[in-house]
Amino acid sequence: MKKARIGIIGCGQIVRIRHAHELAGCAWAETAGYYDFVSERAQSFVEQFGGKVYREYQEMLQDPSVDGVVICTANDAHAKMSVEALQAGKYVLCEKPMASDLEGAQAILEAGRESKGFFMAAHNQRFTMAHRKAKELLESGAMGRVLSFRCTLAHPGPERFSVNRTNSCWYLNKAASGLGCISDLGIHKCDILMHLLGEPISRVAATAGTRDKRDETGELAKVYDNAVCVLETPSGVMGTLNLSYTNYAGMENTTVYYCEKGVLRCHYYPDCALEVVMDGAETVRYFDVPQPNSGVMEAFARAIVEGRPSPVPAEEAYRAMRAVFAIEQSARTGEMVTLKGML
Ligand SMILES: NC(=O)c1ccc[n+]([C@@H]2O[C@H](COP(=O)([O-])OP(=O)(O)OC[C@H]3O[C@@H](n4cnc5c(N)ncnc54)[C@H](O)[C@@H]3O)[C@@H](O)[C@H]2O)c1
Repeated sequence: MKKARIGIIGCGQIVRIRHAHELAGCAWAETAGYYDFVSERAQSFVEQFGGKVYREYQEMLQDPSVDGVVICTANDAHAKMSVEALQAGKYVLCEKPMASDLEGAQAILEAGRESKGFFMAAHNQRFTMAHRKAKELLESGAMGRVLSFRCTLAHPGPERFSVNRTNSCWYLNKAASGLGCISDLGIHKCDILMHLLGEPISRVAATAGTRDKRDETGELAKVYDNAVCVLETPSGVMGTLNLSYTNYAGMENTTVYYCEKGVLRCHYYPDCALEVVMDGAETVRYFDVPQPNSGVMEAFARAIVEGRPSPVPAEEAYRAMRAVFAIEQSARTGEMVTLKGML
């Protein structure tokens, strides 16, 4: 079997904890190399995982031996690099959010239509065992209709995660980040909600602000560090979404679906990734061991090798982008926002 040759652009924390070893260990892929504008970071990954150091990302895009690229830079470079990679005929796996603004996301949609490659958004929540099983249960009808939901994505702040562990990290800079926790964290939950509910988010109301995070100047950061949202779908499923960079107790990354026949609790308990509580029947708990990897790299490389479409297409990633920008619009204007053309 010919493997997909894949290069990584941007060599920070998500590559350290996820993509480098998942690429090295992937049966459908081999490592072409690494690029970062801090070249020592690329060098260090090459020493550990193989491939070559690229001096410019364009050098990787022009390398005919490279099939696909994984874009893991700060958000403001995602759209430009994705468009150039698609124009060069490469397959693109791009970290979330796909762009720091809606214009960048639209440019990716357009470039994807003309490309020999495809665009995949790294929406890893779709690949967790709990969310896969939850989707299967919802689609089978076993839970009945979803009536409402409640989700939270909250952690102590990106300055504790980024390779640059200070308040000067790009996440707290509006131009480099976009919307702070709304786009950084909200994109995960908007995407997984739409993926599992099988319909878009079409109405949002939100309040958001910056309560605690300071940038490198010591001023309150210009990105949002907290948001509380109400979301609704065209069929009337309603729910809440809490997003926070100030959960100093650690990580909370939960979704609860309240359905006609019972309740699904995804990533709610540390020792069980999915709990299914049926009305009047026994509770079933799934997945008490951690997932070995995110499944994102495997889905990407396998789709390239097997000539299949993108596992998370640009059109679906764009819907999630529209939802998070509507959340921000609602928070900024105080108005409820209806997303037209989202059926
Ligand atoms: N899917 C997830 O769960 C998840 C989790 C964390 C981060 N992310 C995403 O991954 C991306 C990277 O995040 P991170 O936490 O690894 O950031 P990071 O700050 O740790 O690392 C970013 C790296 O990219 C490099 N870089 C930034 N802009 C660049 C550019 N224009 N050209 C070349 N190199 C550039 C930096 O030098 C740095 O090495 C972000 O888009 C983030 O939203 C996704």
